[in-house]
Amino acid sequence: MPPTRLAGCSSEWEISIPRPRLAYDERRLEQLEASIRALPRVELAHLPTPLDAADRLSQALGGPRILFKREDATGLALGGNKTRMFELVLAEATEAGCEAVVASSAVQSNYLRQLAAACARLGLECHLILKRVRGDRDNEVQGGLLLDLLLGAKVRLFDGDWEALALEAEEEAERLRHQGKNVYLARSANTSDLGLYAVAYCEVLVELIHQLKERDTAADRLWIASSDTTQAGLALANKFLGSPWRISGVSPFGDAIDTQTAMSEIANDAADVLGLDTVVEPHEIENFLQYAGAGYGIATPQANSALELVARNEGTLLDPVYTAKAMAGLIDKIEAGEVSESETVVFVHTGGTPAVFAYPDELELSALSSQLSRGEWVQLGADAVAG
Ligand SMILES: Cc1ncc(COP(=O)(O)O)c(C=O)c1O
Repeated sequence: MPPTRLAGCSSEWEISIPRPRLAYDERRLEQLEASIRALPRVELAHLPTPLDAADRLSQALGGPRILFKREDATGLALGGNKTRMFELVLAEATEAGCEAVVASSAVQSNYLRQLAAACARLGLECHLILKRVRGDRDNEVQGGLLLDLLLGAKVRLFDGDWEALALEAEEEAERLRHQGKNVYLARSANTSDLGLYAVAYCEVLVELIHQLKERDTAADRLWIASSDTTQAGLALANKFLGSPWRISGVSPFGDAIDTQTAMSEIANDAADVLGLDTVVEPHEIENFLQYAGAGYGIATPQANSALELVARNEGTLLDPVYTAKAMAGLIDKIEAGEVSESETVVFVHTGGTPAVFAYPDELELSALSSQLSRGEWVQLGADAVAG
């Protein structure tokens, strides 16, 4: 097989890595594509998202061969994995006559930012209840919160646990319904349509198969940040098509959620939506809980280092809440020899990047401002930089 050139630079390194075979059931692929195509859809995302070679990162880590599936490049208000999901979910909601959306999640939520943007595109009212996860620091109008406001969402900050947050969103939806509005209650309060969200990631797996095939290459494993719908969709499509890949996920919630059970249930709901005969069992889901650190939204030193490593080697920005923790997990497994240097890993970059603007302290960037104000040369990670 000739050496493969992917987007980005190609190198001796890339050529020297053995190629796995791309094996899947062709007839089932057509069936899956037809089932996805049959669902109502509104257009929101720039698709297909790019597949880039991350050769300098691969080299810095001493293998494996890493490709980035750029789901951060879906285009809507700085992109992310949720945009494709809203193509399906909001199509169903608008067909049902919805005119206002109520949703709740953490202050820097990637989900809510993309939802605010999708509502703006579709002319829907957007009401967001935002849970503070980092105390007063979450009052700062930065990152996702800044964008939610620019995108025209009506927002309110909230303190309390996830259950109380969902109740608050239900009450807000009820209040609007009393005003005579047709309301779509989204996550976190409504979990009845998570299968439809997951279908969007069945589509990603299909897209990836086409991209690898076009480039006459293949992969061994997908690596992803997820605690539910994203990995669930990949898992379902993967099993339905004859399991071409091992799929490894990293949860940002630690052990707060039984992700194996949650994902298998969501995958099976997605199978119902698509009319597929496949059942995903909890034990078939590989999802690591140990990279979340002190909890959701709380930065870890390993994730910060991973974020910097990727930025410096690939010019690609991860986010501190999801993707940097996923990358920290991948790096740990490489160092432990559990991901071998001969593998090809597709790292699915699910987005969330605007959150970096809300994490200058955790990323040790705020501390540089006094040196900058004195006109000194400054570089992250260097004590003093000669002029
Ligand atoms: C940046 C980013 N990556 C990954 C995910 C994973 O999504 P899920 O847990 O729904 O699979 C999210 C969810 O909000 C996210 O914001």
